[in-house]
Amino acid sequence: MIIKYTAPLRGELSIPGDKSISHRSVMFGALAEGTTEVTNFLTGADCLSTIACFRQMGIEIEQKDTHVLIHGKGLHGLKAPSKILDAGNSGTTVRLLSGILAGQNFDSVITGDETIQKRPMKRIMTPLAGMEADITSVLGNGCAPLQIHGKKLHGTHYDSPVASAQVKSCILLAGLYADGITSVTEPAVSRDHSELMLQYFGADIKSSGFTVSITPEPKLTGTKIRVPGDISSAAYFIAAALLVPGSELLLKNVGINPTRDGMLRICQAMGADITLLNEDHSDAEPCADLLVRSSHLKAVEIGGDIVPTLIDELPILAVLAAFADGTTVIRDAAELRVKESDRIAVMTENLSRIGCPVEATDDGMIITGGRQLHGAVIDSHMDHRIAMSFAVAALACTGEMNIQGAEIVNISYPEFYEDLASVCR
Ligand code: S3P
Repeated sequence: MIIKYTAPLRGELSIPGDKSISHRSVMFGALAEGTTEVTNFLTGADCLSTIACFRQMGIEIEQKDTHVLIHGKGLHGLKAPSKILDAGNSGTTVRLLSGILAGQNFDSVITGDETIQKRPMKRIMTPLAGMEADITSVLGNGCAPLQIHGKKLHGTHYDSPVASAQVKSCILLAGLYADGITSVTEPAVSRDHSELMLQYFGADIKSSGFTVSITPEPKLTGTKIRVPGDISSAAYFIAAALLVPGSELLLKNVGINPTRDGMLRICQAMGADITLLNEDHSDAEPCADLLVRSSHLKAVEIGGDIVPTLIDELPILAVLAAFADGTTVIRDAAELRVKESDRIAVMTENLSRIGCPVEATDDGMIITGGRQLHGAVIDSHMDHRIAMSFAVAALACTGEMNIQGAEIVNISYPEFYEDLASVCR
């Protein structure tokens, strides 16, 4: 994929549905009694992997584009899959589903693509083992494939060393099948979509500070879910409109959950002109339209408790830092090393290729911005967020950007390049 600057970004765009919320709508809908109707579902490959896994366990799911009906069978309605469950590239699918599978009365094996088979699963295996779950890494390397012997679980408290919504959600879902209350404490608050949605489905779940607890065996009831636009996808258009002079772009219906909106706060600290319009707090998940105008940006420090609220936006924030005046320091983000790629290494490699002075640290990056940068050959390392980040960088670079593995955007934003072209005019 060759990308080069054409014109400022103008007009408006509806952002596709939130990936995390779309996954959860299928999972919780499958465990609920009755039908769950989902609108603005994300049709990216990751969420389709979740649908495929539940279909394999006997759940009838009707999907027509972004409209999905899940005919739930209750907490004990899943049936044993006849073959290995395939989560594709989706960490959310493997980790959340493992929590559910641990409490079933059947055995299962779950795995995914090459990348997934390298991502750490001990972070869920350890707390699940503390609930007396029987889960093993088939190759003994702490990664998928995971073999799960389903059984009755034991309620527990887990102090998680990482602020991870996937770990937290896995434990809470296992907690639905435990013999007592299960609770998780995180070092900082990670995205709370599971808590909000489980409550909406009727679960007995409570949050207090950094701790969430769930009481087992509630009846989940099918419901209607309107998925807001994904702020993690909006992030690329926010960045593009900020970077390209003369841009003014309205992004419609973007989720602004406070556990996900760190990028907005950091952009504002960098001097970005972003206005929230039509804020809607009527659903559990708040959303708004975002009006973004091109802005002169300055460097910023990113670290501490804000990191989990913008963890997936750090690659595109690193691109913004490359064009901002001064030196940006990103710290407390070691989690970037275990995402779809080692995002610290891959961002450092690719930012260097476009002429940006950048240094990798153990838990972040130091980026010196403000130079004129140039197009180059970029390797996405088959990471969707790297491909989209450099497609945006291309708009502010001289020359052409040649993105290898550009098609990987299919994971979270299949129409990304078409949408980008549609607003560059
Ligand atoms: C997700 C949580 C985050 C995020 C991922 C989606 C989720 O991962 O990076 O893209 O849907 O729960 P961690 O919870 O492991 O940080």
